[in-house]
Amino acid sequence: MQTMVVEVARTGGPEVMELVERPVADPGPGEVRVRQRAIGLNFIDMYYRSGLYAAPLPHGLGMEAAGDVEAVGAGVRHLKAGDRVAYGSGPLGAYAALRCVPAHHVVRLPAAISYEQGAAVMLKGLTVQYLFRQTYRLQGTETILFHAAAGGVGLIACQWARALGVKLIGTVGSPEKARLAKSHGAWEVIDYRTENFVERVAALTGGAKVPVVYDGVGKDTWEGSLDCIQPRGLMVSYGSASGPVTGVSLSILAQKGSLYVTRPTLATHVVSRERLEESAAELFGLMTSGAIRVAIEQRYPLAEVAKAHADLAARRTSGSCVLIP
Ligand SMILES: NC(=O)c1ccc[n+]([C@@H]2O[C@H](COP(=O)([O-])OP(=O)(O)OC[C@H]3O[C@@H](n4cnc5c(N)ncnc54)[C@H](OP(=O)(O)O)[C@@H]3O)[C@@H](O)[C@H]2O)c1
Repeated sequence: MQTMVVEVARTGGPEVMELVERPVADPGPGEVRVRQRAIGLNFIDMYYRSGLYAAPLPHGLGMEAAGDVEAVGAGVRHLKAGDRVAYGSGPLGAYAALRCVPAHHVVRLPAAISYEQGAAVMLKGLTVQYLFRQTYRLQGTETILFHAAAGGVGLIACQWARALGVKLIGTVGSPEKARLAKSHGAWEVIDYRTENFVERVAALTGGAKVPVVYDGVGKDTWEGSLDCIQPRGLMVSYGSASGPVTGVSLSILAQKGSLYVTRPTLATHVVSRERLEESAAELFGLMTSGAIRVAIEQRYPLAEVAKAHADLAARRTSGSCVLIP
């Protein structure tokens, strides 16, 4: 059996991605073979493509997809052929029409959730789950700062915050993205290309600042984010859209008010099936109740993956992007 996959033989720009035909084996023990209907596009895919994150070459790309189970390997008990499923924590290689995946990464999709929605939320939505429910467990009384609020993770965060009663101040890179974040539940938005977000957060909170900042932008917002946090508050640096944060002297945390900092990743929050199933159930519950509607703002055929990467890197996308094999 053959399938089309995206492969990277050397790291670099979008041009290093090649669509090639490869054989697909029967699923081994603990694996399922999935006929993929939609694939999630994520910033982390660009980190692997560019070499910021290393993997042995040549390698596939993509961590997130949804589709139908076609065949089940030995020892897999929670899935059967014909199940509609999704996964969001890899392994690398989701940019494919057909593939084998370790079954412990895979959950069944409720009937009300489409393949495209499944492919758009398993990485991004479960990230918001752990950010809001585990890293800093929001109670509903807080005002928080969330960067890139009109992005894939961002629009889910806006809605999740609204569902919790949390006032989310979101930064965005254009007036159009500001409207989008607001319409998805952001309490206030700041265009950080034209406004000083540190001053605006101080003004919006009456000088109190916020107990927690969720920062997926990285290098460009790092220091400003620290200036938005109340004494002894938490900096959650969970991404590097503008480049990684490097060269930090720990004493800056003392200067800015005895701050805490964490650099979390989804993989460590879904290590066991129980944790994955619990988190997915909470996310799917919010989606089926209508509290979270997944905004798929861009769709690309898999063959146009280079354009998708270029758009994501150039900040031309909003909400979630999916690739269609
Ligand atoms: N640690 C984890 O577990 C985890 C999991 C998922 C995602 N993430 C991280 O979360 C962040 C968002 O991921 P996503 O896939 O949902 O992407 P996204 O938010 O849809 O896209 C990234 C956004 O970042 C903003 N941005 C600011 N400066 C940028 C720059 N110099 N270049 C490009 N974009 C810039 C842009 O929004 P504006 O135009 O509004 O500024 C852009 O649209 C990424 O950093 C990603 O790595 C981390």
